[in-house]
Amino acid sequence: MRLRRVLAVIGVVVLLLCTVCAGAGVWLWNSQVISTADEVDFTRPLAVPPLAPSRMESGRRVFDLKAQAGTHDFGHGQTPTWGFNGDVLGPTLRAARGEQVQVNVTNALDQTTTVHWHGMHLPAAADGGPHQLVGPGKAWSPTWKVDQPAATLWYHPHLHGETAKHVYRGLAGLFLVDDPATSVDALPHEYGVDDVPLIVQDRKFDSGGKLDDSPGFMSGVGVLGDTVAVNGTVGPYLDVTTERVRLRLLNGSNARVYDFGFADDRRFALVGTDGGLLSSAYDTDRIMLSPGERAEIVVTMKPGERAVLRSYPQDLGTGPFGRFTGGADTLDVLQLRAAGTLAPRPAVPSKLVEVPRLARADAVQQRPFRLSGHSINSKQMEMTRIDFAPERDSVEIWKVVNNDGEPHSLHVHDVQFQVLTRDGAPPPPQLSGWKDTIYLPGDVDFELIMRFSDFADPNTPYMFHCHVLFHEDAGMMGQFVVVPPGGKPGVVDHSSHLAHGGPH
Ligand code: C2O
Ligand code: CU
Repeated sequence: MRLRRVLAVIGVVVLLLCTVCAGAGVWLWNSQVISTADEVDFTRPLAVPPLAPSRMESGRRVFDLKAQAGTHDFGHGQTPTWGFNGDVLGPTLRAARGEQVQVNVTNALDQTTTVHWHGMHLPAAADGGPHQLVGPGKAWSPTWKVDQPAATLWYHPHLHGETAKHVYRGLAGLFLVDDPATSVDALPHEYGVDDVPLIVQDRKFDSGGKLDDSPGFMSGVGVLGDTVAVNGTVGPYLDVTTERVRLRLLNGSNARVYDFGFADDRRFALVGTDGGLLSSAYDTDRIMLSPGERAEIVVTMKPGERAVLRSYPQDLGTGPFGRFTGGADTLDVLQLRAAGTLAPRPAVPSKLVEVPRLARADAVQQRPFRLSGHSINSKQMEMTRIDFAPERDSVEIWKVVNNDGEPHSLHVHDVQFQVLTRDGAPPPPQLSGWKDTIYLPGDVDFELIMRFSDFADPNTPYMFHCHVLFHEDAGMMGQFVVVPPGGKPGVVDHSSHLAHGGPH
């Protein structure tokens, strides 16, 4: 009798506990979804990063960039930030193919940083990766000849173990490459008028209005914010005065993957990706961008109308827990406000530029890359380890796969690559052009083809890594050097750099 009563009590307690647990589980499951659809008041005019002034000095186009601390209004009072030549983000650098550029980087922060030119083909010593440290109060003046198709590139710090923090605080900007041979006059091209850059970054704030970079519950990818800033503007609108507007989208976020579209599901033309224009415009209603990726789209507007750029829920290809890494979120990004009369702009031509294809037959090397946990091929970043050494001017095929249930991507320095195959098939249109960063859904095989032209330096490595910055900082990165034909990798000299005051 007594035993039965005890058992009954235990049963009830267990049942209660289960109910509480299930309730907590359901709550947790649902709490991992953010939606700001139709909830953002677009009351602030979109800031457009100014074009950086430059001057010609002995045949070089010279820019100045100063990393500095400041404060910025994200709608939470004055938030402490970092920026280049200002409080947050940086000016847009712009140079033409064939020009020799020099960027005088000075560091007015109280800690070491670096500035990496993401997507740029350039000598390793000018790349601004974790070996080109710029200590507090120090300067660094890399110079190189711009030689690649017209494209939307960007720059950001790359200090090993600290990239996430530096980018999150606001250090990032665009670098536009101009090249008449690989651009199309019929596309909108008046900077800030009908050709507008959008640096999209999610942010989170603590109760004091400071930037909060703590990772979300079970996120595994680092910080995911509930507030979207575009060029630093929260709740932005853009006054559109032309029938067509070109938006240069950069996912400048640490971890969030966006699936951009419009709230009314209107179609738009995808005309360019990371490394330049596509061979033909792709008519679509969505474009997915993982951290570091870019897309150029052309949107058609009617007089007087409004359109909201939105990021939609998406399949991250990482299984049922995608919601813990932002896959179920809906975020309103930017409102386009068309004027009552719009200046005419030509239709987007269907044929854009020649994109010469790299051929499988030209590849002299194949390399496997398995991304899992915080490792690539089971190895973590080490500043003095060179993982491999392609020969200058050689073509290689990289076979890449995300082997776990987390979102990962692969970014390769120095080159723009092409996707040969995705899951054994030719790439979809949005992956058919020049790329330097690619999102890797779980267990999908990619073959990437690339040529390591022009620059060899056996002692100075380029990086390859996951561009989810929390993963990169945690060691999901490796190093390669490009050697002259027949050459051998040298020794990475990091000691002299440490003299500048390296990362702890
Ligand atoms: Cu955008 Cu290695 O970085
Ligand atoms: Cu990753």
